Amino acid sequence: MPSVTVKAPTAPIRADAVVVGVRKTNDGPQLVSGAEPVDTALGGRLVEALRTLGATGRPDEVLKVPTLGLADFPLVVGTGLGEDATSAEAARRAAGAALRALTGQRRVHLAIDAAAGALAEGALLGAYAFTSYKSSPTEPALRTITIAGPTSSRADVRRATIVADAVSLTRDLVNTPPNDLYPETFAARAAELAKERGLTVEVLDERALKRGKFGGILAVGAGSVRSPRLVRISYRPAKPKAHLALVGKGITFDSGGINLKTANLTWMKSDMFGAAAVIASALAIAALKLPVSVTVTVPMAENMPSGTSYRPSDILRMYDGSTVEVGDTDAEGRLVLADAITRAVEDEPDYLMELSTLTGAQLVALGPRLIGVMGEERWRREVVAAADTAGEGAWGMPLPAELRAGLDSPVADLVNVPSDRWGGMLVAGRFLGEFVPDGLPWAHLDIAGPAFNQGGARDYTPKGGTGAGVRTIIAAAERLSAG
Ligand code: BES
Ligand code: MN
Ligand code: ZN
Repeated sequence: MPSVTVKAPTAPIRADAVVVGVRKTNDGPQLVSGAEPVDTALGGRLVEALRTLGATGRPDEVLKVPTLGLADFPLVVGTGLGEDATSAEAARRAAGAALRALTGQRRVHLAIDAAAGALAEGALLGAYAFTSYKSSPTEPALRTITIAGPTSSRADVRRATIVADAVSLTRDLVNTPPNDLYPETFAARAAELAKERGLTVEVLDERALKRGKFGGILAVGAGSVRSPRLVRISYRPAKPKAHLALVGKGITFDSGGINLKTANLTWMKSDMFGAAAVIASALAIAALKLPVSVTVTVPMAENMPSGTSYRPSDILRMYDGSTVEVGDTDAEGRLVLADAITRAVEDEPDYLMELSTLTGAQLVALGPRLIGVMGEERWRREVVAAADTAGEGAWGMPLPAELRAGLDSPVADLVNVPSDRWGGMLVAGRFLGEFVPDGLPWAHLDIAGPAFNQGGARDYTPKGGTGAGVRTIIAAAERLSAG
């Protein structure tokens, strides 16, 4: 990642491109404060130049103006902040859009009078590129980002760097294809990262999972030649205010299994997104030294069809001792998560947060951007509020009691899918709730849509892995740290 430094607004600007903010008003586009030194260098004619180019100031509008030797820097970039130009998220998006349009520039300076932390976060996220698999890997040109702001904002910029690091790691893991990222390699990478940061790691391989009777994880992983894993990472600060358990779905590829999928198969490399997000978030929480104990529990498996696959009608004995009838091998996430949740609650955490690309129904209900949040009501509201402060879209959803009846099985304690598809996101949440003890504040975040951007790049969001949810987890941990 490029480095970010804060510079006094009066300091001389040394950059290849300088970004200014453009606000949308009823009187047309206006410069956001912070742009004055740039405008002065251009003889006060910057707005005029932007208008000539058709600027409106709307979000995701990026316009480039060459300075033709009038300034020390060759290029000015106007980035739209929209009408509500003062929100932190508007600053993140505008900085992200600008940096996405500036690939190839080595030094970029932001002359926008907005929260430096938000600008840094947006700029770093917008500058992200996944190039590991390009044959002629070009070194990312961008080396330094400078932000005009007060020295008092340096701590915010440091936090933003840690957050952006976690989001970028999540994106990298999701974008890495399933022929290279499978349970064994994913677990090894997670262990390596955690040890580097001084966290405690435990990896259960297939033998250990058999010994431990993790029936859900073993069944889902049975069809693949790549055997499943369960990874546990813990962070223990000196005086924790609370203990947060993080669980994430780690299906490195979801073919559907014997109930083989017929559509969207390339999308299913993102089915380990929840696992990547909770691992990256735990690393960030540790780097921020938040006074919250964190224990990550991630089940990793590849859901494949073969002669050794689990089948529809199989009855599994889960890690908690209960039995589940398999109605559909494509509803595999809830099976691995049930075992992981049971393991996570053995540590007696104060809060449980679980992220998963669990249902296509999440996309039907909330669309591709909004995270569906379910679980215990108070903690669910806290998590939605954390998402709001982090600038991520999330919406609280109910877990209607009557949906439980659809999970009754004639032959086992539960079946993993009901006979109809109504409220599929909520049904999956209801299933997971069966493995959560009464009284534990738990939240289930269905991120099937937000995890992976199928459309074009926008604001600070690239195509492919997005990192959605990471900022919400970190913000929720910060809330627990505060008291
Ligand atoms: N991983 C999928 C959910 C998914 C769908 C994620 C689209 C991202 C985009 C999950 O394992 C799945 O297959 N869910 C089924 C559940 C059904 C069989 C009850 C679904 O949503 O169709
Ligand atoms: Mn599936
Ligand atoms: Zn899945």
